[in-house]
Amino acid sequence: MTTPPEITFSETDLDAIATAPGRIAVLIGAEGKLDAVGRRVNKLTRGALARFADSEGFEKMKSGEIRSLAFPSGLAAEAVDLIRLDRRASVDDARKAGAALAKAQGKADVLIAAGTLLNAADLAFGFALRAYEFDLYKTKDKPARGAVRVMASKPEDLAAASAAYAALAEGIFFTRDLVNEPANVLTTDDFAARLAAMQELGLEVEILEEADLEKLGMRMLLSVGQGSASPSKVVVMQWNGGEKGAAPLALVGKGVVFDTGGISIKPAAGMEDMTMDMGGAGVVAGVMRTLALRKAKANVVGLVGLVENMPSGTATRPGDVVKSMRGVTVEIINTDAEGRLVLGDVLWYAQERFKPSGMINLATLTGAIVIGLGHENAGVFSNDDAICDSFLSAAKAEGEGAWRMPMSPAYDKLIESRIADIKNTGGRPAGSITAAMFLKRFVKDETPWIHLDIAGVAHVKSDITLAPKGATGWGVMALNRLIADKFEG
Ligand code: BES
Ligand code: MN
Ligand code: ZN
Repeated sequence: MTTPPEITFSETDLDAIATAPGRIAVLIGAEGKLDAVGRRVNKLTRGALARFADSEGFEKMKSGEIRSLAFPSGLAAEAVDLIRLDRRASVDDARKAGAALAKAQGKADVLIAAGTLLNAADLAFGFALRAYEFDLYKTKDKPARGAVRVMASKPEDLAAASAAYAALAEGIFFTRDLVNEPANVLTTDDFAARLAAMQELGLEVEILEEADLEKLGMRMLLSVGQGSASPSKVVVMQWNGGEKGAAPLALVGKGVVFDTGGISIKPAAGMEDMTMDMGGAGVVAGVMRTLALRKAKANVVGLVGLVENMPSGTATRPGDVVKSMRGVTVEIINTDAEGRLVLGDVLWYAQERFKPSGMINLATLTGAIVIGLGHENAGVFSNDDAICDSFLSAAKAEGEGAWRMPMSPAYDKLIESRIADIKNTGGRPAGSITAAMFLKRFVKDETPWIHLDIAGVAHVKSDITLAPKGATGWGVMALNRLIADKFEG
C-alpha cells in the first residue's frame, strides 16, 4: 500500500537555515511581509527576498502559489520556495501551498518554515496528499522522497493537529491505490481480500459469496457478473464506534472491477479507463479505513458490490429480464448500464438488514454526468433536503466539488418497460437523472438517501491541486466530515 510521507515538526531554528540541504520553503505574508526565517534568508542571500517581495512578480501571485529561486548564493540549499501565504490564510490556500511544495519537491529534502501560520496542519496535509505517487509497476528510477520537516512556533500543537489528519490521508491513499490498480490485479477476490484485511483495524468484515447472493435473491447484481470468470461478491464492513444498537449510516459503493460493457460492448478507445469503475466502492473502503483509524464515535456500515462486467457465452444478453431482490423485474436493454443493477440490489439489502438512519451511495455511474458537470463536480441526487444540504456543506468545506441535480417522477416514464416493471436505460436525454430514478426504485421513502455520481471526479487525466493525474479519492474528505459533523455525538 502507498503510505503518506512522514512529516516531522520542530521549533524554528534560524541557525539551521544557512546549511540546510535540499529546499527551503519560506512564507511571504500580505504586503510582502517577511517573517523571522524570511528575514534570515533575505540577509544570507543579500536581499533577494526583499527584492522579490517588492516585485511585480510577487504582486501577481495568488495566495497559496509558490515561486522558486534556484541555487541561491549564500545558502547550501538547492532552492528557496517562496510561498505567498498570509499567516491567516484559509484552509484551502494552506492546502494548496503545501501541495505546490510537494509537487516542486522531487526527491529533495524539504525544510518548511511555517512560522505562526494558523492553518499549518493543513499545509502539511496538502503536502501529504499531493505527494501521492502510484509507482508500484515502475521498475526503474524510484529513489525515495527526501525528508520533510516543518518548523513552526508551536510544533507540539501542530504535530497533534497533523495526527488527526493522518487517518484521513491514509484513507484517501487507500482509495487511490484501489482505483489505480489494474483489473488483472484488483479482481473481485483481490478487492475482497484487501477489505477483509481491514479487520486488523477493528472493522467487522463479511464477504457474501455468489451462493449467498443467490439465496438473498440478488439476481439483478448477479446478472452483471455472470459473464466473468471472477465471482461476484458483496462485502459488508461495519464500524460500530457509536451508541450500541443505534441505527447506522449506510455507505454503498459500485465496485465494477472492470466494465467492458458486456455484450453491449464499449468501443476500444479509452476502454482501459474502466479499471476505475470500482471508484464508488473505493471511496466507501477509504472512508471505512479512516473511521477505523481515527476510532470515530459513529455507527457506519459500508457495503460494496464487487463484480466484473464481461461478454461471454454466459453473459447477460440485451433483452434479458431479471428479478431484483426487492422483487421488481428489470428488462436489461443495455448490458453497459450495469452499475444501477449492482447498486439496486445492494441498496435494498442494506435497508432490509440495517434499517439505516441515512444511506449514501457512490458510483462511477454515467458518462452523461461527465458531459454535464465535467471533472469539477460530482452529481448529487437526493430524496431528502436536510441530509443533502449537510453533505453539500461538508463537500464545500473540504473543497470537493458537488452539485445537486434534479429528480422527479416525470422522468419515470423514460424507464418504463414493455414487458417488465422497468428497464435499465432511458435513452440519451437526462441519462444521469434516469439512472438516479432507477436507483430510487430500490430506496424506501423513509430512508434519507443521497446518490453521488462520481464518474467525472473519481479519476482525472491531468493533475489537480491535491492529486497527481489518476485516482483522486474524491469524496473521502467530504464523507468523513459529514460523519464527524452530523453522525458523531
Ligand atoms: N461505468 C460507466 C460510466 C462511466 C463512463 C464512468 C465514463 C466513467 C467514465 C457505466 O457503466 C456506463 O457504461 N454507463 C453508460 C450508460 C448507458 C448505457 C445508459 C453510459 O454512461 O454510457
Ligand atoms: Mn457500463
Ligand atoms: Zn460501469
